[in-house]
Amino acid sequence: MRISFCCTDTKAQPWLDGLRAAFPDAEVEVWSDGARPADYAVVWAPPQSFLDEQAGLKGIFNIGAGVDALLKLRLPPGVPVVRLDDAGMSVQMAEYVCHAVIRHFREFDGYEADAAEGRWSYRKPRLRADFPVGVMGLGVLGERVSRALAQFDFPVRGWSRSAKTIPGVQCFSGEAGFNDFLAASRILVCLLPLTPDTDNIMRQDTLARLQPGGYVINVARGSHLVDDDLIALLGSGHLAGATLDVFRTEPLPPAHPFWKHPKITVTPHTSARTLRDESIAQIAGKIRALESGALIASLAGVVDPNKGY
Ligand code: NAP
Ligand code: GLV
Repeated sequence: MRISFCCTDTKAQPWLDGLRAAFPDAEVEVWSDGARPADYAVVWAPPQSFLDEQAGLKGIFNIGAGVDALLKLRLPPGVPVVRLDDAGMSVQMAEYVCHAVIRHFREFDGYEADAAEGRWSYRKPRLRADFPVGVMGLGVLGERVSRALAQFDFPVRGWSRSAKTIPGVQCFSGEAGFNDFLAASRILVCLLPLTPDTDNIMRQDTLARLQPGGYVINVARGSHLVDDDLIALLGSGHLAGATLDVFRTEPLPPAHPFWKHPKITVTPHTSARTLRDESIAQIAGKIRALESGALIASLAGVVDPNKGY
């Protein structure tokens, strides 16, 4: 068996070591131009030339949850794409989003500013009922985040393509449910995959439907958000702030207005990192299952090219 590793911006050696330990009899190599085609590919944002050379692949394993970059490429026909299915990401995402929601709700940013000035001052406690949190995307990450928020007694709304039932979460679905979902939310969390249907989903007319004093947390992809519309709604006071982990251009360019905006908190695409050991264990388990004759449909995380996630 031959496994080709082709991951942009990723230190290859520890992945090769882990994959070789999982498959001592396999050839596991970093891809280079003209290398022999592989049986399995482990990828992150590979170049088109890599995919063009892979005629005999049995599976493409993406070392992230989002496959938007991969699906923009011309994939070898009929080869299944498998994304990471949690692999330690959902707990990180729950930590990040709960932190951002609680920091905003409890005004910890204001207390930090006070402390920096040596000021001992109280803010009036706010009512949780006035801060309903809407989570767009109720998949592996969104469901975990919704449940975690509900544990803190926030009113939680969720929105997905298909209808769901999640204890403690008021669920909306489909285009028909979108406006009601927005109107029922004050804090908006984006955990959607980036697809033609979800591109620019957070823009002037949709964000304007959030309850006054709204707050945006984008942990999905930068292209879900129209940057200028966010800035305009912060300026008008309809939105109170935003915590952004993902951007249209990454790294976020030094001159981008988000960096210095007083109501925006920026983090460098770090809300849920790929954890190498968990990911290798998950990918190796799936390759073993396929090699033992399991059907691709029996694996978690198989991407539906028609849905785009
Ligand atoms: P997932 O399990 O595939 O869940 C996607 C959710 O979005 C599903 O609930 C799906 O609805 C819903 N959805 C998709 N298209 C929709 C539409 N048009 N309208 C309404 N709902 C729609 O994905 P995941 O593992 O939770 O990951 C979500 C995204 O998070 C990834 O695609 C990636 O972009 C991002 N991410 C970011 C980081 C980071 O560090 N910032 C880390 C990991 C992932 P159904 O359930 O009905 O299909
Ligand atoms: C990170 O953004 C991922 O999609 O895993």
